[in-house]
This record gives sequence, C-alpha cells and structure tokens, in this order.
Amino acid sequence: MSLTNQEKQSLIDLANKARQHAYIPYSHYPVGAALRTKTGKIYTGVNVENAAYPQTMCAERVAIFKAVSEGEKEFEIISVVTDNGGFPCGGCRQVMAEFGLETIVLMADGNGNLVKETTVKELLPEAFTPDKLVNR
Ligand code: THU
Repeated sequence: MSLTNQEKQSLIDLANKARQHAYIPYSHYPVGAALRTKTGKIYTGVNVENAAYPQTMCAERVAIFKAVSEGEKEFEIISVVTDNGGFPCGGCRQVMAEFGLETIVLMADGNGNLVKETTVKELLPEAFTPDKLVNR
C-alpha cells in the first residue's frame, strides 16, 4: 500500500510534535519518531536520555518497541524528526532491519520539511537479518 504525501506529512508532523516530550537533559537534541504499522496504527517515540549516558534510548527504537510490545511487527513507514534533519543511527537501522528491509524511512527537520525519503534496505545495505539465524 502506498501512502499519499498528505499521510506522509501527517506522520512527520506527529513525530515533530512528539519531540516536546523528548527527555534530553544532556544533549538538548530532541528526536521524534512516528511509526505506522501495516494495520494502520501509529506509534510515536522520543529519545529518553540517562545520567549513565549509554542507557539512553533513541526515539526510533522507543516507537518500534512500543509497537512490538502491543503485538505489531509489520511496519509500513517511520518518520524521524530532528532540528537539523539528522539520519537514524546505526543501532536504530539494525533494529528497523529486524522487522523488514522494505519499511520506508522519512527524515525531516524541525520545520517539518522532508529532507530524505528512503528505505531500511538503503540505509543498511547487506543487513544482518533474522533469516541468517534460521536452523541454528
Ligand atoms: N538519537 C536518537 O534518538 N535517534 C537517532 O537515530 C540518533 C540519536 C538521540 C540519542 C541522544 O538522546 C541524542 O539523539 C544525541 O545523540
């Protein structure tokens, strides 16, 4: 199923709005994500930092884990919004790849402007995927 530009923009706007809840006392870099599943449900996420820095969780993973924890594992599209149109980190790309290389990824800036539309496959070529572990 392909989405209209209006649906894509609304996913960007949701991620942008979610950023107000980012917990970012250390980086002051709010990130928001909005994930739409194949059933049409939408899960948002923000980055949640920690005084023990490595325990920080990225916005994309919060959105994905919220979805998975509610039984949703088939994703259509995820939007990621930062002030300056930053791209998802390597760890988040790997977590996205777990659930499908065809998922569309939208990156947008703090004005809600689309910076790039791509796929997980393009963001993480030659990904390590679940099928690699079959029969072990
Ligand atoms: N961050 C994300 O939420 N997603 C990414 O893909 C890149 C980085 C967060 C983690 C941290 O809270 C802040 O951005 C700076 O690294």
